[in-house]
Amino acid sequence: MAIRDIMIFPHPCLRKVAAEVQNIDDEIQTLVDDMLETMYDAEGVGLAATQINVIKRVVVMDCSEAGDSPIVAINPMIVTASSETAERSEGCLSIPGVHDNVTRPAQVTFRALDRSGESYEMAAEGLLAACIQHEIDHLDGKLFIDGLSSLKRDRIRKKMEKLKRD
Ligand code: NI
Repeated sequence: MAIRDIMIFPHPCLRKVAAEVQNIDDEIQTLVDDMLETMYDAEGVGLAATQINVIKRVVVMDCSEAGDSPIVAINPMIVTASSETAERSEGCLSIPGVHDNVTRPAQVTFRALDRSGESYEMAAEGLLAACIQHEIDHLDGKLFIDGLSSLKRDRIRKKMEKLKRD
């Protein structure tokens, strides 16, 4: 396993639409292992492959208190979303130090493949519901700051560029 570099906004890879995984081969197994190690090392609750510049539809998450319940979601998709919404403060490993409120469906059901290629469906609410939606957005080249005003986004861009220089 290896810790991969997390790309920081506005790196162009964060805007790419990731390709579906066709085969769960050794390369994907290694990618999943590395993504889990990278996410835990960064103390995140979710990571999408696009964030480490691998443009494939692979997500890892762990929204448990203890950080001992990894979820692997390959080719994830939202199956149902509640009309009820919830607002949460979100952050992103690719936009360190930035948090803002995002409103999303409060409950979702998503379908994905696990690391052995088995299809599963999972009902999610609370943090996990926000997390899977945030991560699927990454796979579609979207970021949680996209809904903010352009003034705010410009400030964030400047902050990230300063971070890179320091
Ligand atoms: Ni993120």
